[in-house]
Amino acid sequence: RPGKIRRTLRWTWRLTYLTFGGLLGYTAWTIYEDRHPQDQVKPDPSKKTLVVLGTGWGSVALLKNLDTENYNVIVVSPRNFFLFTPLLPSCTTGLIEHRSIMEPIRAILRHKKGSVQYYEAEATTIDPERKVVKVADNSEVKGSIAENEIHYDMLVVGVGAENSTFGIPGVRENSCFLKEIDDAQRIRKKIMDCVETAAFKDQSQEDIDRLMHMVVVGGGPTGVEFAGELQDFFEEDIKKLIPEISPRFRVTLIEALPNVLPSFSKQLIEYTENTLREEKIDIKLKTMVKRVTENTVEAEVSRPDGTKERLVIPYGLLVWATGNTIRPIIKDLISRIPAQANSRRGLAVNEYLVVQGARDIWAVGDCAVAGYAPTAQVASQEGTFLARLFNNMAKTESHEARISELSTGLNVQPGNAAETAQEIESLERQLKKIRDVKPFRYSHQGSMAYIGSEKAVADVTWWNGNIASGGSLTFLFWRSAYLSMCFSTRNRVLVIVDWLKSKAFGRDVSRE
Ligand code: FAD
Ligand code: NAI
Repeated sequence: RPGKIRRTLRWTWRLTYLTFGGLLGYTAWTIYEDRHPQDQVKPDPSKKTLVVLGTGWGSVALLKNLDTENYNVIVVSPRNFFLFTPLLPSCTTGLIEHRSIMEPIRAILRHKKGSVQYYEAEATTIDPERKVVKVADNSEVKGSIAENEIHYDMLVVGVGAENSTFGIPGVRENSCFLKEIDDAQRIRKKIMDCVETAAFKDQSQEDIDRLMHMVVVGGGPTGVEFAGELQDFFEEDIKKLIPEISPRFRVTLIEALPNVLPSFSKQLIEYTENTLREEKIDIKLKTMVKRVTENTVEAEVSRPDGTKERLVIPYGLLVWATGNTIRPIIKDLISRIPAQANSRRGLAVNEYLVVQGARDIWAVGDCAVAGYAPTAQVASQEGTFLARLFNNMAKTESHEARISELSTGLNVQPGNAAETAQEIESLERQLKKIRDVKPFRYSHQGSMAYIGSEKAVADVTWWNGNIASGGSLTFLFWRSAYLSMCFSTRNRVLVIVDWLKSKAFGRDVSRE
């Protein structure tokens, strides 16, 4: 019996070594591949110009899967990196450093077979008549040319969306949004500014209470995840470092609807609300913010008896997370296409993601209305679908050209009639398959959200059914799922290091 145990242990060790060895080998190989890209094929003026706007989930999924040898691809975006948004709330407290979830677009494009041009610029106007995009370099450093035009044969619009404020007075001037890296950095600085100001010598009691009150408006996934991260930060770090003011710290989450996370199942909504309350986050439901001033939020609460009550809530930090609205460039494009007259939430697209009423323009992600929620999952699947569609279109054109050559006897060796007929037949068979592209259909993998104190909720699709789970195990699942989805090995390694670093040494509370 001891011999059997020893043998089992030996095999367990061997398997563990093999697994770790395999993992290490794979990581080393991907790092080597990343650092040693192959030479790229230069742009060919005889090919069509495909212009891609944006470097977000939709556009990057397209670029990742597109055979760039088939087109002259030009990418235009004011952001020269891809941002892994699911981990952005963790950057607001320094749990994860912001560069860990950014992937430079130049690095992504350098690995394509056919070279791709990238311009760091904002597309300001799309002229569908002239097939031209006007672009402007709005960065700090400018050369003699800061505006230009780019002609396209095919255009993919993936510019995402802006933060909605519903025109509520004072929101833009006084609150922080949570969409881009700059937003997360701004929030991180502001949290520490509020804390340090509250801890200032002889600070007034009223000001300490206000400064230590962090208000989040919007109980969607962004608001809930941020509120959870914020509470963790105080529990795990601020409390230890500045104990004298920590009892005054409060997080309030304001939501206009009767519950938070409206897109999750009823059981998970209940679990989330209970967990947030246990974490001492004050949830104010059926409360609609109407006005924001420099130091207060003014809201209206709907009481069960139908009456309304006005609340004035002082705050130190206000984070506004009430969803999306369309960007000016999309509004402008909609006004130029008569068939889009009724589009309010974005560009209406058909089942092949073609912008309705436009020629040679496709749209992906948050700026497109295809009947799905504005999520990374949808944007990424749409981008992948378009890449497949464009790869097929290029193949179709090249096959058709070859068939035409063979039929007219061009570039064909004389006396090979049987072989020519065979080749034509084979090409036509392939063409039939290629042309049979099914319309885009979104496959929902599920929704997940972090809710604080190392707990998460997940509504996951499994064999045509749905599994709803919440808690610490779901948190581990949430972490591993998002880790596996990170863009590159570099991102994954950096995120793991950040998690370990924060666990061992705490979050860095210095204010840059
Ligand atoms: P984006 O990813 O926003 O990219 C838009 C791109 O267009 C950017 O590169 C931008 O710089 C560029 N751009 C903007 N204006 C112009 C212009 N005028 N010209 C050229 N380029 C322009 N979804 C999930 O499914 N799961 C999650 O866990 C999740 N977590 C999230 C967490 C947070 C904090 C946030 C804010 C969102 C989260 N989302 C999540 C939603 C998801 O991030 C979006 O649905 C997704 O980013 C949409 O992809 P997109 O390509 O349409 O736009
Ligand atoms: P959202 O649109 O999902 O939620 C915004 C919330 O704000 C709504 O519940 C709305 O009722 C509330 N609201 C609006 N105006 C208000 C007011 N004046 N006062 C109080 N409350 C008000 O927006 P969010 O969370 O930014 O998400 C945007 C998209 O990104 C969604 O599609 C979401 O699914 C996705 N996302 C997904 C995540 C995940 O899967 N973990 C994380 C973050 C975002």
